[in-house]
Amino acid sequence: MGDLSDGDLRLTRRIASLPYPLAVILGNHDRGRDRSGEILRQQLTLLGDNHCAWGQRQWSSPALSVVGARPCSAGGGYQLSKAVEAVYGPVTLQESARRIADAANAAPSNLPLVVLAHCGPSGLGSDPASPCGRDWKTPAIDWGDQDLALALDLMARQRPADLVVFGHMHHKLKRSSGLRQSLLQDRRGTAYVNAACVPRLGVDQSGRSLMHLSWAEFVDARLTHLSHRWYSSDAALIHEEVLPLQNSVAC
Ligand SMILES: [Fe+2]
Repeated sequence: MGDLSDGDLRLTRRIASLPYPLAVILGNHDRGRDRSGEILRQQLTLLGDNHCAWGQRQWSSPALSVVGARPCSAGGGYQLSKAVEAVYGPVTLQESARRIADAANAAPSNLPLVVLAHCGPSGLGSDPASPCGRDWKTPAIDWGDQDLALALDLMARQRPADLVVFGHMHHKLKRSSGLRQSLLQDRRGTAYVNAACVPRLGVDQSGRSLMHLSWAEFVDARLTHLSHRWYSSDAALIHEEVLPLQNSVAC
């Protein structure tokens, strides 16, 4: 879900070499300070088909379809950075939404449909602690992506997404000691998860290194489990915060 680095390619290289099914979407930091788009092009070359912006990836094992939203979003409604424009050309809000929705509509109906975005959609709340709420400056406003919100509406005419995963807006709030709400569900049954536990690497009270992962499980194409998990360096599950799923909750 992006913001791997501030343009450094080393982590991208390591992720691209992982021997697992991958779906990656780059964040606003990944283009570095380069407005020409050259760093972004290098990131995209390394990731190849693993980068799923405005596209779709699918596997039979795991049985999953992942649709990518707009690359390198910085949230705040809709704005295309100079780097993204240099690489992808000018793309309007409506065109971006249409690309996301078209990719989703091409996904097989028997596979769970996950949308992967750097910033989540608008419409999830305007409080500092909302999943995409602006917390670093007053007044707090909805900082979500409008093209993604429109895309999710368009997709729902055929089939709503099962899960939308995004980051960008850190769990730890800037102007208080609180934490951001990391799960919302809407009337369509779509679950929205902000997975931006920052930093991802930490140390527990006993000095053990821990890594955060956001975890989702599907059974027969139905989302059955969501959690934030912290694993040790030898892949043992040390701590789990279950995100309770409900059948239908308005947002
Ligand atoms: Fe970001």
